[in-house]
Amino acid sequence: MPIYLDHAATTPLRREALEAMLPYLTEHFGNASSPHAYGRVARAGLDEARERVALAIGAQAREIVFTSGGSEANNLAVKGAAWAGKARGHRIVTTAVEHHSVGHTMRYLEKFGFEIVEVPVDRYGRVDPREIEAAITPRTILVSVMLANNEVGTIQPIEEIAACVRRHKGVLLHTDAVQAAAHLAIDVAALDVDLLSLAAHKFGGPKGVGALYVRHGTNILAQQQGGAQERYRRAGTEDVAGAVGMAVALELATAERPVTGPQIGVLRDALAGRLIGIEGVLETGHPAERLTNSLSVVVGGLDGASLVMALDLAGLACSTGSACVTGSTEVSHVLTAMGYPEDEAKGALRLSLGRTTTVAEIEEAGRLIAQAIETQREAAGRLAAASHRAAPGQAAGAAAAEATAG
Ligand SMILES: Cc1ncc(COP(=O)(O)O)c(C=O)c1O
Repeated sequence: MPIYLDHAATTPLRREALEAMLPYLTEHFGNASSPHAYGRVARAGLDEARERVALAIGAQAREIVFTSGGSEANNLAVKGAAWAGKARGHRIVTTAVEHHSVGHTMRYLEKFGFEIVEVPVDRYGRVDPREIEAAITPRTILVSVMLANNEVGTIQPIEEIAACVRRHKGVLLHTDAVQAAAHLAIDVAALDVDLLSLAAHKFGGPKGVGALYVRHGTNILAQQQGGAQERYRRAGTEDVAGAVGMAVALELATAERPVTGPQIGVLRDALAGRLIGIEGVLETGHPAERLTNSLSVVVGGLDGASLVMALDLAGLACSTGSACVTGSTEVSHVLTAMGYPEDEAKGALRLSLGRTTTVAEIEEAGRLIAQAIETQREAAGRLAAASHRAAPGQAAGAAAAEATAG
């Protein structure tokens, strides 16, 4: 199998999580809302999973709402807080580098009269808490800032942002911790947030399950009606197996992080050293305040999407930015917000390591990336030379064919 350096897109399901899930996919298949023995077994599994997820992030069980993943948790947090707070105000403060499940939700809310203020970030993708505070007015009901960015790994100063938000009564603080949870200790009390989103598949749990932490006493409006599940905050029959798998994976990630985190960091640094030694390759994201597994670069003069394709053929799975952007020709909104011009941002390459990444894989990945860059630059050089000699249309066709073959 190819080397996998795309853990920010998703992670392999941990065997321990799968094993804990299996009984709930087979003999304990009951609906957790059923009043009979099958239902009671499923309910007990769900309750235990809820307690374990809560414990791992310093919350109470009743503060956990299971969802279908990070996107739903973000939608529920942002829309839920917006609609619940509408009588008090219509202004929401966020940043320009949020995941689309927050950013596009903001755009959606704009259509209903909400005023969305996007606070800019610096060259490293960090937002200044003072700018967040300056954007808060008496009409502000929500601040939503991600804990760590999915494209460049930059960690936001959420505690400091929380201190600013707390000075303004009635303003809720949401953080998207989907990307952070695998690599940072999550403690909702220390972060002092009201709402926090998680997705199991980013830390070795199953896909299609996540959670929203809702601080006790925080009013959000359910975005899905039709059942009393999740204390009326999310209608629909619960995915008991998913919740159980999420709890196991989160506990393992939390327990192992102190050892695996630094190990992954050493491998990341080794690969970073190899890549920034190549001419025209620059690291993006914050040099210190970023996730240990995250390595993002821009490769001067090349197209990240073509590099990813070439690397896929060569046996390395990675991405240009977020998995959602990959496959489209859209330039990363994160890099653009960080001030990278479009032609530089096009050269983005994201390498995200995980607990299964080995030294040998990092060495091989470094070699494959260096080789792919060289091959594509040679092809680009031939293209430039050919366009001097021939009609532009013919030259582009010939060089494109060559680049594909290379
Ligand atoms: C920061 C961030 N938020 C939200 C999501 C969405 O999570 P999910 O894929 O579980 O819907 C992702 C997924 O890439 C993410 O990286």
